[in-house]
Amino acid sequence: MTLPSRYRKLVIHESTGDFRSSTRVVWQDWVDPGPGEVVIRNKFAGCNAVFDKNLCRNAIRYVNVVPPFDMGIEAVGEIVACGAGVTTLRVGDAVAHSKLGSGFREYQVASATRVIRIREASAEILTLIPTGISAMVGLERVGEVRSGDTVAVSAAAGGLGHIVAQIAKLAGCHVIGLTSDARKIPLLRELGIDRPVDLRNESLREVIEREYPRGLDVAYDSVGGEVFDTFLDHLAMRGRLVISGHTSDFDKTIENVAQPRIYRKLYWKSASVRGFQNQAFPEFFDEAAARILALYYAGRLRPLVDPTPFQGLEQAADAEEHLLSGRNLGKVVVRL
Ligand SMILES: NC(=O)c1ccc[n+]([C@@H]2O[C@H](COP(=O)([O-])OP(=O)(O)OC[C@H]3O[C@@H](n4cnc5c(N)ncnc54)[C@H](OP(=O)(O)O)[C@@H]3O)[C@@H](O)[C@H]2O)c1
Repeated sequence: MTLPSRYRKLVIHESTGDFRSSTRVVWQDWVDPGPGEVVIRNKFAGCNAVFDKNLCRNAIRYVNVVPPFDMGIEAVGEIVACGAGVTTLRVGDAVAHSKLGSGFREYQVASATRVIRIREASAEILTLIPTGISAMVGLERVGEVRSGDTVAVSAAAGGLGHIVAQIAKLAGCHVIGLTSDARKIPLLRELGIDRPVDLRNESLREVIEREYPRGLDVAYDSVGGEVFDTFLDHLAMRGRLVISGHTSDFDKTIENVAQPRIYRKLYWKSASVRGFQNQAFPEFFDEAAARILALYYAGRLRPLVDPTPFQGLEQAADAEEHLLSGRNLGKVVVRL
């Protein structure tokens, strides 16, 4: 295979707060892999529009964005070159890789120890690595989900949510899946969600109070706002509310909410609210990756890739805006 002398990647050239105007495609000179490294030809890259927009606002607390800043996190592709000492991987292997700055580019250099070999470089893998890993670690390690639990999942048809909901079902839970788009309800049913809730046409508070008077054992929230407030008010005895994001207001002015102090809601129930940010739990990634791939290859997980096609780095902004419009079904992916 002939390797190029240079390739294209997407960078933040200016932090405007908006993905489209902050980013542009630039050329990167070819870099040979060093000892223990491989070069991957990226075939599909995953969108993380909330995180990426936060990068464009320089609003990720543990990242200091100094342009030019390489964009994208996860990709799947094929190994095209191996550096000295790489014995576990070969040219032609299909792999998944996840690291800040590695996704939105045609080729990437990666440490062989951080690459996960997969059967085929398909878009579906991007629902699992790293999104599915976050779903699994957040639900199991932070939510401490147990068989028989009643579990509510917001944005249950989204990239993260559809895997959270399926893992909860596999764990033997009763799953309530939320969407703000009635068109996604049939899909939630197909995923095995016991009680889809259409937030535009039903009151979440009324549904829980009428149908789940015992409350929620686990609430896995990535939407925030009123959904978060409702989950908080309806935790069961020893219920766990996992904060996995707040898509609905992450880029808005911080809202000050007048409410009783949180201990009034939690103490008597021994309930808790727990933050989850995947980068704080690296010790669980390898085991979760192996288990989630095994579930997928055994046909026990249905990965949903959003059907809207996005082709090439030039359409990355379209893909990110599509996700932020809320119209997506599953993981939004760019084919490279
Ligand atoms: N904690 C972690 O480690 C971790 C890891 C991955 C992702 N996340 C976070 O999890 C969230 C989901 O990420 P994702 O990439 O998988 O996205 P996604 O869930 O595929 O897409 C976002 C979904 O949120 C729902 N939504 C509700 N209110 C919205 C609003 N005002 N604007 C847009 N969408 C709204 C929409 O679904 P409905 O219309 O169906 O409600 C939309 O499809 C993000 O906040 C992300 O940052 C956290």
